[in-house]
Amino acid sequence: MQPDTEKFRLRTFVETLRRIGELEQIDEPVALAELSLRIEASTTAKLFTCVGPQKYHIAAGVAAGRKRLAAAFGVAEREAVHEYMRRLGTPQPVVEVPSADAPVHAVVVTGEDIDLNTLPFHLQHEFDGGVYISTGIDFSVDPATGRRNIGCRRLMLRGRDTMQANLTSESDLKRAYTASVQRGERYPVTFVIGSSPLDFLAATQRQPVDEFDLLAAIRGEPTAMVRGITNGIPVPADAELTIEGYFDELGYREIEGPYGEFYGFYGPPHTDPVFHVTAITHRHDVLHHTLQHSGKLIARADGSNLAALSTEVSVWRALRAARIEPVAVHAAPASNGRPHVRVALREPRPGQARAVISALFALPVVKQVVVVDEDVDVCNDDEVLWAMNARFRADRDLIVTPGLPANYADPMAEDRTIAKVGFDCTKAAPADRPIDEVRAFSVPLAPQRRSASVREALASGPRFFSELLVALGSSDGREIAMELQTLREAGELERMPSGAWYLR
Ligand SMILES: Cc1cc2nc3c(=O)[nH]c(=O)nc-3n(C[C@H](O)[C@H](O)[C@H](O)COP(=O)(O)O)c2cc1C
Repeated sequence: MQPDTEKFRLRTFVETLRRIGELEQIDEPVALAELSLRIEASTTAKLFTCVGPQKYHIAAGVAAGRKRLAAAFGVAEREAVHEYMRRLGTPQPVVEVPSADAPVHAVVVTGEDIDLNTLPFHLQHEFDGGVYISTGIDFSVDPATGRRNIGCRRLMLRGRDTMQANLTSESDLKRAYTASVQRGERYPVTFVIGSSPLDFLAATQRQPVDEFDLLAAIRGEPTAMVRGITNGIPVPADAELTIEGYFDELGYREIEGPYGEFYGFYGPPHTDPVFHVTAITHRHDVLHHTLQHSGKLIARADGSNLAALSTEVSVWRALRAARIEPVAVHAAPASNGRPHVRVALREPRPGQARAVISALFALPVVKQVVVVDEDVDVCNDDEVLWAMNARFRADRDLIVTPGLPANYADPMAEDRTIAKVGFDCTKAAPADRPIDEVRAFSVPLAPQRRSASVREALASGPRFFSELLVALGSSDGREIAMELQTLREAGELERMPSGAWYLR
């Protein structure tokens, strides 16, 4: 059976987002130059249906939230990381289909007809070096080794048939391209625009595996791929649009950038290679795709939310390797999804919170670790701040380790190192915790009349007021206070140090 070429297309996912209340549709005309401001201000994904003079349909922010990513996996929010891990361990095949069966080859533009001005490149941050498409996923097959690679790369408009891409940071594509320049050869690549968030997760993994297979695994289904018309590189047949071509053999030679980066600052201008376009292909009803890479609120960026999910996978794996099973893990998108990590433990043994902190300091991207007890929701900033106040003493529970390797983009790094910090906000749990160490909040009660009177309910031992309320099947409580008063007047009632009531 042929894989379904509608299920993972971007337009289908946008409809999923609409169904779960995560999408706002904007039908009024929006200029390309105002697009980014609208996206950055938005708390939902956006579907613009009238952008620029060409009236483009453009989706934005489709991966910018855990609810959206969970929807891409088809699971509940808290399950997304577990489903992601399950799929990473379950291979799926790539199935090659002919061009005629590939919706992304419905329209093919080659030769003199190629004009990148027909695509919605737009200015994204105030001081960016030019107009960009920010959602490129590059597919390549290294001619020297046969290795199949994917990654995300921003694309800067340069001319009718040339673009620039940023290949300065360490990456598999950079290594393969640099080797091809040394051989004096061009390096063929196809950029895919308009993809499921799942494909972005695959593209941002740096694994020593066949990354086309990795993409199929993360989709959780066999994936149809079609060979490029002009460069033979396979790409998902269900994509919205592709730009085929090659990086030329002349190497790093032109300035690209600056461009807003994931830490919230500009990446400086770099010397980068030039990409030559040999074909543009797209669906008949192509849906264009953009995302904000940086911004004032980094938590709203697609990249932060994608990174958070992948960081959580690394954290679960690192802790399980250290024989620690956390209750919950959270990487905060507000920190760009990498540096700030929280872990909840069930009744941690003495020293276990510190063991978590030192295990996670070994992860290059993690810089701050907060460890809490399981009664604190690691995804809730208010609860975590409560624990950082109520269960933390800076002179005893703070761990600072300087001189560890820094993330390459960390703006606070010096000599490529950074100091990492751990907050042990766990509170040792004595078997019989005194009342002033018990958290105070209301809980749902399930009154079910098991005792006929307060005296009968107290006959088996001390009870808190709420336990009396449940045992008497009461949904009020004032009548219980009156019965207690009667027992008190009869000289039969006492209180425990905890405040529980008991019979003399
Ligand atoms: C939206 C987005 C845009 C990105 N743009 C770039 C980029 O322009 N250049 C780059 O080197 N990395 C970029 N990255 C990070 C790479 O995609 C990531 O490091 C990837 O693992 C590289 O793949 P590779 O090592 O298989 O080549 C981007 C990531 C995201 C999420």
